[in-house]
Amino acid sequence: MSPKLTEIDLVAKLIDREVWIVTSAAGQRRGGLCATWVSMASIDPERPIVVIGLAPNHYTAELVNQSGSLGLHLCRPEQTELALNFALGSGRDRDKLAELTVQTSDSGAPLLADCLAWLDCRVFARYDSGDRLYYWADVLGGERYGNAQPLREQQLIAAASDEQKRLLLANRREDAAVHRPLYESWRGANLLTPQSHPRG
Ligand SMILES: Cc1cc2nc3c(=O)[nH]c(=O)nc-3n(C[C@H](O)[C@H](O)[C@H](O)COP(=O)(O)O)c2cc1C
Repeated sequence: MSPKLTEIDLVAKLIDREVWIVTSAAGQRRGGLCATWVSMASIDPERPIVVIGLAPNHYTAELVNQSGSLGLHLCRPEQTELALNFALGSGRDRDKLAELTVQTSDSGAPLLADCLAWLDCRVFARYDSGDRLYYWADVLGGERYGNAQPLREQQLIAAASDEQKRLLLANRREDAAVHRPLYESWRGANLLTPQSHPRG
């Protein structure tokens, strides 16, 4: 790794986002993943909105594209195995919700009964940036159980076994290889010319 990349990586490691479990269902199919690209996107309490960034090759993105609905969950700090269950492998190969108590939300998304908090969301807009699909979603409802702080990314990684860490890294490398050409073709098609660039 070049010195510049090492420095950038060190800066990136200062960021320690909360970990979300994103769930969705379409017909008989259901699934979910672990995500940090989730953000509240409105300051108006009368129209709560979230933006979620999902990789297009993930099974969960396929379900959200089909159903337009999703559930968001924050975990308690000790729920690391729950989060890892959603971070590892694909819902195409196994039902990640099989061992869990699940209800169906108003939007039609699977809601996990055992979590720190949940939001029920309906997608109203989507933007495709090649290696990410960004979804804007209305928040239809939510509930918070208790005052614990949500599980964060670095707590999750610290709690993973050596084998889980190896699998997470392998997942990440495979994803990056799939995403690179998607990103490059989007970027090539969306380059700003000197004339169209806002700064001239
Ligand atoms: C800490 C962490 C954060 C992640 N954040 C995201 C994210 O924001 N968006 C995303 O699409 N995948 C994210 N992932 C990767 C997915 O959780 C992972 O690839 C998952 O296995 C995909 O499952 P699926 O194919 O069943 O949908 C993250 C993984 C980890 C460990």
